[in-house]
Amino acid sequence: MKISDAMVSAINDQIKAEFDSAYIYLAMSAYFEAEGLSGMSHWMTKQHKEEIEHAEKFISYLYRRGARVIIPEIARPRENYTDALEVFRTAYAHEQYITSRIYKLVDMAAAEKDYATQSMLQWFVDEQTEEEDNTGGIVSKLEFFGGDKHGVYVVDRELSAR
Ligand SMILES: [Fe+2]
Ligand SMILES: [Fe+2]
Repeated sequence: MKISDAMVSAINDQIKAEFDSAYIYLAMSAYFEAEGLSGMSHWMTKQHKEEIEHAEKFISYLYRRGARVIIPEIARPRENYTDALEVFRTAYAHEQYITSRIYKLVDMAAAEKDYATQSMLQWFVDEQTEEEDNTGGIVSKLEFFGGDKHGVYVVDRELSAR
C-alpha cells in the first residue's frame, strides 16, 4: 500500500524535529563542558547521538516506503542556561513536546489505517517513555539537592557513567 503524501510530509517534519533535538542537546553538551561539568556534557553528547539515530530511523523508514526524504534546515539552538537544573528542566519539557508529536503521528496513522507506519511508530512511543523517565529523573534528583553545588557534583559524576 502506498504511503500518503500527508504522512510523508508529517514524517519529514518529524525528521527535522529529531535533528533539532540533536542540536539542542549538542548545545547543552557545549554549555556543560564550558561549566566544567564533564559528566553532564558526556550525557548530552550521547543524547545528541541518539537523536541523530532517531532521525535516521525515520529516514530509512521513508526509504523503505519509497517516499522522498527532505533533508531539513536545523534551527540554531539556545546557547546559555542559568544552571544544570534549568538545562534538564528544558530537556524534560522538550521530550514531553516530542512525545506529543509522536502521539499525533500515531493518531494520523490510525486515521489513515496506515498499519505499517503505526507499527514503526510503536518503537518511538516506547522510546519516549524512556526519554521522559530519564530526563524527568535527573530533574527530580537535582531538585532533591535543592540546586546546591554538592548535588550538581554528585549528579555530574553519576551521568559520566552513561
Ligand atoms: Fe528523539
Ligand atoms: Fe529524545
